[in-house]
Amino acid sequence: MSKRFYLTTAIDYVNGAPHLGHAYEKVLADVIARSRRSMGQEVFFLTGLDEHGQKVQQAAQDQGLTPQAYCDRLAEEWVALTKTLGLSNDDFVRTTDARHQKVVQAILTKLHAEGHFYKAAYTGFYSVREETFLTEKDRNPDGTWDPKWGQVNELVEENWYFKLGQHQQWLIGHIESHPESIQPDYRRNEVLGFLRSQTLEDLCITRPVARLSWGIPLPFDPAFVTYVWFDALVNYFSVPAALGDPGALDPLGASGPAISAPHPGLSLWPADVHVIGKDILKFHAVYWPIMLKALGAPLPKTLLVHGWWQKDGAKLSKSTGNVVDPVAVIAEWGLDAFRYYVVRELGIGPDGNWTDDGFKARYNAELANGLGNLLNRALNMLNKYRGGVVPTASDELAAEVVVAVQATGDHLRANDLQGALVSIWTLVNRANLYVEQTKPFSLAKDPAQAARLDEVLYNLVETCRVLAVLLWPFIPGTSEKIFAQLNLTGSPSSWKLTAWGGLPPGHPIGAPLPLFPRKDLPPK
Ligand code: ME8
Ligand code: MG
Repeated sequence: MSKRFYLTTAIDYVNGAPHLGHAYEKVLADVIARSRRSMGQEVFFLTGLDEHGQKVQQAAQDQGLTPQAYCDRLAEEWVALTKTLGLSNDDFVRTTDARHQKVVQAILTKLHAEGHFYKAAYTGFYSVREETFLTEKDRNPDGTWDPKWGQVNELVEENWYFKLGQHQQWLIGHIESHPESIQPDYRRNEVLGFLRSQTLEDLCITRPVARLSWGIPLPFDPAFVTYVWFDALVNYFSVPAALGDPGALDPLGASGPAISAPHPGLSLWPADVHVIGKDILKFHAVYWPIMLKALGAPLPKTLLVHGWWQKDGAKLSKSTGNVVDPVAVIAEWGLDAFRYYVVRELGIGPDGNWTDDGFKARYNAELANGLGNLLNRALNMLNKYRGGVVPTASDELAAEVVVAVQATGDHLRANDLQGALVSIWTLVNRANLYVEQTKPFSLAKDPAQAARLDEVLYNLVETCRVLAVLLWPFIPGTSEKIFAQLNLTGSPSSWKLTAWGGLPPGHPIGAPLPLFPRKDLPPK
């Protein structure tokens, strides 16, 4: 039984409209999932929704709905987004799923029985908006609370806590000895800096039912529900367990068989990559591995941490109207233009800035004039000069194609998706330059140059074919259109098809159609 490449995204809070940041993260994960599949790995790609907590309880109440009915309604929009984004996810988890809740309770039961939790009273300041207790460090120098916390109340409250003290040292050692465990490097250094300089405070894992009822009941104390992070993080593990992955069931011990019958052919856990945003790094880099270690489960291999998008240099915010609606952009420009832009514009790590002008500039220069024009010229010339039939094979561009394929694959294996697109575009630009240099339109006027024209045309259409394969993980719809226009019946989804020489001489191509219609022509 071979382990699948198991890839996850953060699960989005259900109460909020999907925005650019959510869509970006899901597209990143989808590109990774597709590239691994293309290169022959078996993949399991999970995404989903985080549905419990005070904000959901409040919003449902405001609308006169039960929290479950409210979540069900919103979940439809989020599931629709996965389709709009063309995601190839294998499952979609909701933290209200019974399969998920059972696993959360099984983990809590085991960790409680093994003495990892204690109950204590705490007096402190609580931010309703952020659903978190604040400490004196969170106060402004003048004693006030930052408006980002919303209303801050003083509370005395009993809760259950998870003992973290004994975990700090091994976690530091683990991160030091597994440099790939947090990418990019500066995010790992941030976590190490925090762990080396501060003593971990025990983690509060509950809320009293009196204050928050919309959560997973604590199995050993009915006065409490599980606090959202102990619930949400477990999604990555609960789905494999529910599907019967022995690697997830075994650590659950006696509860395992109650969760699911083992499926001996399925091996998912541990996760290979958790794709997350920088704001939730501490939860994933500190609390999550500690939870798993306490459970006796293997740790995830890599946290891949992306930055945050702004628009026009300011925070995305519904209240100020500074938003990018991915669904609207896709409706106007097409899915692949959106997928291309977000991956090409922003590498995984730093923050990014969306501008409508920047989007249009890349659309026109790189998609319409770059890739689209290359394919269109290649096919039109083949139709015009050779009746749409592929001529004798030639390998003038083969060596450069091999180099680009190798570089693209190296970037993909390193999760450098932006670097992969840069490599692919060196080939797009090279092929367009090849047209300028070889001047097939002049060759066509001279019957003595017929063999040379054959060579040029073969190199152009064959390069387009390889480009379709390289592009499949990023812009699968466009990649399939290129294959269709080349009149190829198979799917461009296998990396093996990057080998030079796939177009057989004598093969009739299809009709050329623009891949990316130019949009900015002034109205006449
Ligand atoms: O944090 N740019 O959910 P969420 C890029 N439910 N990414 C952004 C972004 C932006 N402007 N805004 C948000 C949660 N994100 C929890 C996660 S995981 C077990 C639980 C990213 O809906 C953010 O960094 O607030 C996170 O990775 C994801 O969107 C979901 O954010
Ligand atoms: Mg958030």
